[in-house]
Order: sequence, then C-alpha cells, then structure tokens
Amino acid sequence: MNRYLFDLTGKVAIVTGAARGIGKVLARELAAVGTKVVVADINVEGSENTVQMIRDAGGQAIAIPTDVRDRQECDRLIEQTVAEYHQLDIMLCNAGIDILKPAIALEEFEWDNIINTNLKGYFQCAQLAARQMIQQGTGGSIIMNSSIGGVVGIAESAAYTASKGGVNLLVQSLALEWADRNIRVNAFSPGYIDNIMEGTENFRRPPKEDQEHLNAVIPMKRRGKPEELVGPAIFLASEAASYVTGAILMVDGGYSAM
Ligand SMILES: NC(=O)c1ccc[n+]([C@@H]2O[C@H](COP(=O)([O-])OP(=O)(O)OC[C@H]3O[C@@H](n4cnc5c(N)ncnc54)[C@H](O)[C@@H]3O)[C@@H](O)[C@H]2O)c1
Repeated sequence: MNRYLFDLTGKVAIVTGAARGIGKVLARELAAVGTKVVVADINVEGSENTVQMIRDAGGQAIAIPTDVRDRQECDRLIEQTVAEYHQLDIMLCNAGIDILKPAIALEEFEWDNIINTNLKGYFQCAQLAARQMIQQGTGGSIIMNSSIGGVVGIAESAAYTASKGGVNLLVQSLALEWADRNIRVNAFSPGYIDNIMEGTENFRRPPKEDQEHLNAVIPMKRRGKPEELVGPAIFLASEAASYVTGAILMVDGGYSAM
C-alpha cells in the first residue's frame, strides 16, 4: 500500500482529553505526521504540556481549554479552532472518565458525570464538528475512542459500559446520517491499555495481581500500549479508510474475540 494513503499533512484535528494518557499520545503522533492539533481538555496545565511537547518536536498545536460536558465550551472549541487553523478535518473524541464502583452504590451524580462526559460529550463534539465540516464542504473524519466495555460487560463499571455501548451505536447512527456528506464516523475500541485512567488507580487490585489476572484472560497475554492505538487512529483519519464508515475497530489483543 502506498504511503500517501496515510498522509495527514496540513489536516486539522481536535483531540479531546489530550492533556494526559492515551489522548496525549494520539495528539503527539497526529502532530508528528503533519496534522495541526488542537488539545481540548479540562486540565489546562496538562494541555499546555502536551502542546509544548508537540512544538518541541517541531509540530503545530494549540490548547483550547474545554469541558466536553458543556455545550457552550464545545461551541467555542470549534469556533476557536477554525479562527486559528481555518478548518476542521478530524475530530477525535477521547475525553472519558470511569468511576469503579458496585452498581448498587453508584450515586446519581456519578452516573450523570460519566454519561455526560463519555456519551453526551462525544455526541456534542461530533455534532458540532460535523456542522463545521458540512459548512466547509470538505467532508471529514470523526473518530471515537470507545472501549471493549462497549461490547462486553465489566463489573463495577455499569455507567462506563453503558456510555461506551451508547458510543458504538452513536457511531453507526451518525455514520448513516453523514455518509452522503463524506463525513466518516468510526470508532476504535481499546481493550486493557497500559494507562490507568485518572481517578481509577486506587480501585484496582495491587499492580502485580492486576497484571497477572489480565495476562491470564487477554489472548495476547498483555495490556496494550497507548502507542498501539496510533495506527488505528491514523488509519481511520486518513484516505486509507476512505470507504470505511460506521466501523468499530477492536484494538484489544483479542479480548472481545473470545
Ligand atoms: N486506559 C484504558 O485502559 C482504556 C481502555 C479502553 C478505552 N479507554 C478510553 O480511552 C479514553 C482516554 O482514556 P485514558 O486512559 O487516556 O484516561 P486518562 O484519565 O489518562 O485521560 C483522560 C483525559 O480526559 C480529560 N477529561 C476528563 N473529563 C473531561 C471533560 N469533561 N472535558 C474535557 N476533558 C476531560 C482528563 O483531564 C484527561 O486528560 C477514554 O475515553 C477511555 O474510556 C481507555
């Protein structure tokens, strides 16, 4: 396959939740292949660090502080992106949270927070990005970072799995609505990744026990690395995936194939 199929030079991408973790790695690598990156996160200091890292490596990036739960902030995110970079080609919805807790004890505000971040946040970023792409007349790629929790249950993660199951059907519905505008909507769906989500550290088993347990149940016998999500993201963003829409690409070491 020719290299140019994966070329993203000059494209403009928003990556939500790019102040740390998986989003930070994806932002860094999208910039490394020539994309102008907008880091959209509630963590302002972390966002500035991501931007600095990208600039130090010779890439282009800005930070636009954004709470994806807030409609007006999402509106402002698109407006400021276009004011700075004049277009929007790629929206990577990634900002997500989990609260590991037995469903029986989950508080209403915790449920709301997870759903508002992981599902409403993804929807409104996708919707506003699509409006911009339609106005530009250029098409575009909307990518959602889902989870194996969208296709299999995870104990003590009821709201999270509900949100990710919702994300998967959101991908399919939006893909159908926007296919004739050449806006492709897809997800990649990570399994257990070597980045513990913020706030969930204390709920896990001790690291060694956790790792041994996971190694036993993951067909590839290890967690994935955030870097192993870069290829799927670049593929879905680029012309290499020009006829791919409504797809959920599992990136889970075979976990969901069982
Ligand atoms: N880590 C994993 O094992 C794993 C597995 C499958 C899927 N995922 C998904 O990957 C995505 C990123 O996870 P991660 O592991 O990098 O988590 P993380 O906690 O390391 O990073 C999440 C980022 O999202 C930001 N964020 C949280 N709420 C926000 C909001 N309301 N508005 C804007 N930004 C907000 C945080 O500030 C943080 O920078 C999530 O959607 C998660 O569900 C992670």
